[in-house]
Amino acid sequence: MSDGMDRTIPYPVPDSLAGLSAIPKARFLDTLAILFRVFLPTVAKGVIIRRPAMLAIADRLDLDRRAIRAMQRLRGEYGSGPILLRIPGRSLAIIADPRDVHRVLAESPDPFATATPEKTAALSHFEPKMALISKGQERADRRRYNDQVLQSHTPMHPMAEHFLDVVASEARQLRSNLRQRHKALGWEDFSDTWFRIVRRVIFGNAAREDNELSSMMARLRSAANWAFLRPQRHRLREQLLARIKNYLLRADPDSLAGMMAQIPATSQTAPEQQVPQWLFAFDPAGMTTFRSLALLASHPEQARIAKASDLSGLGQDHTSYMRAVVLESLRLWPTSPLILRESTTATVWRNGVLPPNTGLVIFTPFFHRDDEQLPFADTFTPELWMKEQPEQKYALIPFSEGPAVCPGRHLVLLLATAMLSELLTGTQLRLSSPNRLVPGQPLPATLNHYRLRFDLI
Ligand code: HEM
Repeated sequence: MSDGMDRTIPYPVPDSLAGLSAIPKARFLDTLAILFRVFLPTVAKGVIIRRPAMLAIADRLDLDRRAIRAMQRLRGEYGSGPILLRIPGRSLAIIADPRDVHRVLAESPDPFATATPEKTAALSHFEPKMALISKGQERADRRRYNDQVLQSHTPMHPMAEHFLDVVASEARQLRSNLRQRHKALGWEDFSDTWFRIVRRVIFGNAAREDNELSSMMARLRSAANWAFLRPQRHRLREQLLARIKNYLLRADPDSLAGMMAQIPATSQTAPEQQVPQWLFAFDPAGMTTFRSLALLASHPEQARIAKASDLSGLGQDHTSYMRAVVLESLRLWPTSPLILRESTTATVWRNGVLPPNTGLVIFTPFFHRDDEQLPFADTFTPELWMKEQPEQKYALIPFSEGPAVCPGRHLVLLLATAMLSELLTGTQLRLSSPNRLVPGQPLPATLNHYRLRFDLI
């Protein structure tokens, strides 16, 4: 290779790798561009809980679009990578090619561990024993437990019918409140209803009004946004876990807590520490549902197809148009913008060898909205998802993929499609803010869900 850089491997490698060269590091200024245009805005918006003011700024300054442009420039400069950044004290590589995304996710957790130092620092604020930040046998056991409770292998959870009743009754109440008060629908009303649904699904009816539980989660997540930079709130975490345990002791049979009571736990499982992830992750599911509503309210043709095709909330395979709408909303505005892995050994790539203990960063908005590669990048295209497998030449990975794929994805799609169906059949909604979702025009790279407003007509 003729980039003029010293590519001698600067760390011990097995004999099988002798003769290969190290992946070159990006120049300092190019590294700075990625730090300031990709990482900083993403982290400032809040990775664990969104910061409304920062989201508004990102929206106004089009920071997500700039981040995608910065990644395109990096790829233009260094090729399809991976590209090692020049960061003192941390080996960090950014993935720039869909083939490498598929590889990293397929080869998790070994040699690409899910537990990276950054993720562990953030999530251990409220769930230090959660599967994603666990290793070895503990990770395997905790993942198994999540799979069994969430029934991740099937689109229809055994409790699906009950959960759909919960969505229907809460949506009915929301509609009637809005009508009585002649109110527009904004995030506050929507999210109040959504979190009632989430608490009932996870713990049963007794938790319906437990706003304190959601507020404890929000406080811990705010601290978690700062990862290493903020001390952990141990007392608050203990209070949260005690409150969760209390619900688990009562185990309402019509809830995930009821399901947990039937699933064997070992001395390693730490069941109550898997639950905060569910409470936390249903928040992005709510954002996605609300954004999907905005897409449908602003795209009459797609709304017509959605209404005609699938209003039961039950169609959960690739033929369901409403499910495709939700997945497409996640492609356009992915709620997990950074998927991180940590290599446990030296790994070989097209352009050389990466050292062990390298952090690998997959910046999902780049792969979902790369208008140099994706003909549909900025267009609302639910049809993309109406296949058994999304096309492998792209990396469309809202729920990740491979052995660490989100085990809650089917539940999310079930509840989101059910909620959309309820709102579309029971009300006529017109998107009053923002006015930038226009069929035939490129969709914005940021959609601030806090600002979405719908008039009832
Ligand atoms: C829109 C909603 C959601 C999205 C976009 C989403 C996406 C993801 C992604 C991308 C990952 C992989 C993270 C990584 O590798 O670093 C993940 C993991 C996970 N998700 Fe979700 N998720 C959502 C909601 C949920 C819900 C509601 C639950 C539970 C009810 C859940 C449970 C989990 C768990 C337990 C993991 C860890 C899996 C492991 O360690 O192998 N997620 N999710």
